Amino acid sequence: MTRTVYVNGDYLPEDQAKVSIFDRGFLFADGVYEVTSVLGGKLIDFAGHVRRLHRSLDELQMASPVTEDELLAIHRELVRLNDIDEGLIYLQITRGAADRDFVYPKDATPTIVLFTQSKPGLADAPMAKVGLKVLSIEDQRWGRRDIKTVQLLYPSMGKMMAKAAGCDDAWMVEDGHVTEGTSNNAYIVKGNTIVTRHLGHEILSGITRTAVLRFAREAQMVVEERPFSIDEAKAADEAFITSASAFVMPVVELDGQAIGTGKPGSMTARLREIYLDEMRKAAV
Ligand code: PDD
Repeated sequence: MTRTVYVNGDYLPEDQAKVSIFDRGFLFADGVYEVTSVLGGKLIDFAGHVRRLHRSLDELQMASPVTEDELLAIHRELVRLNDIDEGLIYLQITRGAADRDFVYPKDATPTIVLFTQSKPGLADAPMAKVGLKVLSIEDQRWGRRDIKTVQLLYPSMGKMMAKAAGCDDAWMVEDGHVTEGTSNNAYIVKGNTIVTRHLGHEILSGITRTAVLRFAREAQMVVEERPFSIDEAKAADEAFITSASAFVMPVVELDGQAIGTGKPGSMTARLREIYLDEMRKAAV
């Protein structure tokens, strides 16, 4: 089946979808994105992703080319047209096409693109039973990581460094403390306490993070939002990451050293289960 994508008002086969070579997303990475997961053909935490999208757009003085209701309708139509049961929907909005100039153009029409990835078995990922091996690397990204922009080259380089070292992903470190994973938020667990970096310009405010921290507190776990070091992480009982594509995923090794027992931890497994149960119930 050919994938159907959405571009500026049209649903098209992917090989017929086009954007301008003058698009500022291409020339300046002048665009934002969101990734929403689909489980059972329904959208997980759609409202959260839309809220963050609008925040990212506002921070870049960019207008949304569609309303919230239209956005929901487009997501649902792409799920239907591509027959997605489990998978991901990517939404990208750029400032649009304009003659190349660093100054924001006054009259450009934003470009909006959405596409799906079918991922059967996403919720039942084998990795959740094995856990990830993580490499620590220096965080060399720009200073406004709270805006979900399409400039993903350093995270991509980080993922390649991890692969080259025989790892699955990288945790980025700045001033001696972990910021986040290449495309996820990072956590450690000691006893009944979960530690994850506080929000700020240094990390993305994960939509999964918000939900997981709420579920953790409701389950009487203690949550500390503060920086932690690689040494503290190596001495933790458990570690995990969260994102819209991985949900809650255990981390079992950091820089070649086992974390806790070297197997996925019980708090992590419990949080993954609660997250998936609750989010399926609330899916739209
Ligand atoms: N990445 N931090 C970074 C740098 C991210 O890129 C992401 C998401 C997260 C987690 O955010 P959320 O829980 O809202 O997915 C944290 C997406 C999944 C991606 O780029 O594929």
